[in-house]
Amino acid sequence: MPAQLPAGQAPAAPFADRARFDARDKVLGRTHFTADVALPGMLYAMTVPATIAKGRLTAVSTDAAMAVPGVVRVLTAADFAPPKPPPAGAQGPAAAPATPTIVPAIGYRGAPVAMVLAESIEAAIEGAEAIRASYAPAPASTPLITSPGATREAAEPVEAGNAARAMRRAATVVEVEYESPAQHHNPIEMLSTTAVWQGGRLTIYEATQGAQMVKANVAKAVAIDPATIDVRSSYVGGGFGQKGAAQRQTALVARAAMLTGRPVKLVLPRGQVFHNATFRPLSRHKVKLGADAAGRMIAVEYDADHQQSREGQFPPEYHEAQTQMYGIADYHGTTANVRIDTQAPGYMRAPHPHPASFAFEGAVDELAEKLGRDPVAFRLQHDAVADPVTGKPLSSRFLNDCIREGARRFGWDRRDPRPGATRLADGTQVGWGVGCGAYPSITTANIATLRVSADGTTRLALSGHEMGQGIRTVIAAALLRAIDIDADKLDIRIGDTSVVPQHITAGSWGTASALPAVEAVAAKMTAAMAELLAGRTVTGNLHRRLAAAKRPFLEVEATQLAPGQQPAALAGLRAAGFALTGPAYPDFTTFSYIAHFAEVHVEPRTRRVRVPRVVSIADCGRVVSPRTAESQVRGGVVWAIGSALREETEVDPRYGGWLNNDLADYVVPVNADIGAIEVGFIDRPDPLLNAVGAKGLGEVAMVGAAAAVANAVHHATGRRLRRMPIRIEHLL
Ligand code: MOS
Repeated sequence: MPAQLPAGQAPAAPFADRARFDARDKVLGRTHFTADVALPGMLYAMTVPATIAKGRLTAVSTDAAMAVPGVVRVLTAADFAPPKPPPAGAQGPAAAPATPTIVPAIGYRGAPVAMVLAESIEAAIEGAEAIRASYAPAPASTPLITSPGATREAAEPVEAGNAARAMRRAATVVEVEYESPAQHHNPIEMLSTTAVWQGGRLTIYEATQGAQMVKANVAKAVAIDPATIDVRSSYVGGGFGQKGAAQRQTALVARAAMLTGRPVKLVLPRGQVFHNATFRPLSRHKVKLGADAAGRMIAVEYDADHQQSREGQFPPEYHEAQTQMYGIADYHGTTANVRIDTQAPGYMRAPHPHPASFAFEGAVDELAEKLGRDPVAFRLQHDAVADPVTGKPLSSRFLNDCIREGARRFGWDRRDPRPGATRLADGTQVGWGVGCGAYPSITTANIATLRVSADGTTRLALSGHEMGQGIRTVIAAALLRAIDIDADKLDIRIGDTSVVPQHITAGSWGTASALPAVEAVAAKMTAAMAELLAGRTVTGNLHRRLAAAKRPFLEVEATQLAPGQQPAALAGLRAAGFALTGPAYPDFTTFSYIAHFAEVHVEPRTRRVRVPRVVSIADCGRVVSPRTAESQVRGGVVWAIGSALREETEVDPRYGGWLNNDLADYVVPVNADIGAIEVGFIDRPDPLLNAVGAKGLGEVAMVGAAAAVANAVHHATGRRLRRMPIRIEHLL
């Protein structure tokens, strides 16, 4: 039974479909991505990557670079002072040490050893190629997780009940090991920063998911007061978590602008993005599942570890979502970092639940098979009403509705359960697989300011970043439903530290964190307007009413806390851009859920795997923007197909860098690889998380889908392949 609405509260009505807020600008090419910023007098920068994996920079010769026509200056380690430590009492991103600038210590191949500034991008590239660096190399454990120099460091285990005792009662057990490779995000817009230093203020234009995080990092890295920095992230050309972490190039560009007094722009080339940005680390998953004599899953013992850099902070939290899947009371999960000489790994879409669900949903399928059970019926038998780790009730969970609706649309009841039994006339093997997922519903505090003017314009400023997921569309949908304003003259100001504090937009918390603030600020506007008109009857939209009242504008501000948050969270948001809570709130736990059904075709001679169709049904609470929500799920499924069948960043064992560091060799699915993807939503509001009832969607979209593909490959061929990507050579 899902939780009930508090007394007197009616569920929010479904939202109507509407076009993307920025659809017209996008098709007209008017959308301003940060990598497109061009300013008068701007210098172009190009970084020079280290050619060793570990050691010290001993000398950098810049004469040949300075002789290139157009080159203005070369920055080396000598141009950077030591960073400032994080301020005392800082939280979240503000508490992290600054990203290194250009420093003599080389921690991974591709680290910047110099940056060339020139009047043109061509001169900057030519100058960068003319730089000669000398090194004192040190022995490195290359990014191979099995390197002899790797050091293993256990992290927090996750415990519910007593798994060892429950496992002793198990009548049927599977114990299997799965592996997910290193992968890179590869958004189309590469990492880019443009910095302007003028009148003692630094303005940074960066495509980031966390404008205030960038501000905090740069302040430490170049040792200036954060109050003198503004960061603007107007429109991000793909983030996926890569732009949710402070990146190394930002402070280099900021310092260059401060030293030259001119605007400086750097767009990091794809190969350098591969080496300097965060990435999804290789992870290994040893899963042991036990079922009792009645065929019910009763125990989980699950050890997960992942590749980590020497100083990296990305935690191996592989159990957070897996503990929630099937109401298993006894769960023992261990995790570890395996530290090697690589750049820091980080968050990449569905960071932990994607690889964890590949392993866990594979293991569940293996257990169902061992028990002679249908994998759909087996999952349906394991519904949950409470969080087994905290014991809190789940505010809403419609996973079984997702599974049932997906199975219905997919036609699952026509499936012949025998592996390898279904073939097309030409011998192509056909397989049908299922995979499910959960993702935490996290929320942040938010601050919104709304100004409605008599001239027809409206400006709404709040915390959030647009990386194509459609947050402006969601914000517009909620605002236009609440107040009567001119939709064509609505300016939604997000990702800008100069208007309101900016929280990182990641972890699928954007919608559920923005909506309550939009509703609150709209309600304040309605009240302020009523007070202004003081009982007079004036018709028309708010702009007309303001004109009638002879007021040029009305402006209101609203602050919004997440469930259970104390007002101190707002201070945290203002000071550090950090005020997260969930998925365990004081009185309940909230997750989003999804079920995916995939069909694969394995060709008889080439063994090529195709995915002609997928059906995915999500429970993200109330759907606020049907069009962008469907697009999110489709994108997540495409990525999961890429992950299951194509993507892996491969280590160069000689030099310790990444070998396939461009889009020609890092293989992703193209249009011809993607068949029909049918997306559906349960669209039932969560009664407790917020008044709209919206949970998160961006990441759960992908979770479990790679497992659905792998489980379908098993059904088609009888082969259980436990490592992504599954390629032709594994099916020969
Ligand atoms: Mo996401 S990987 O939390 O941007």
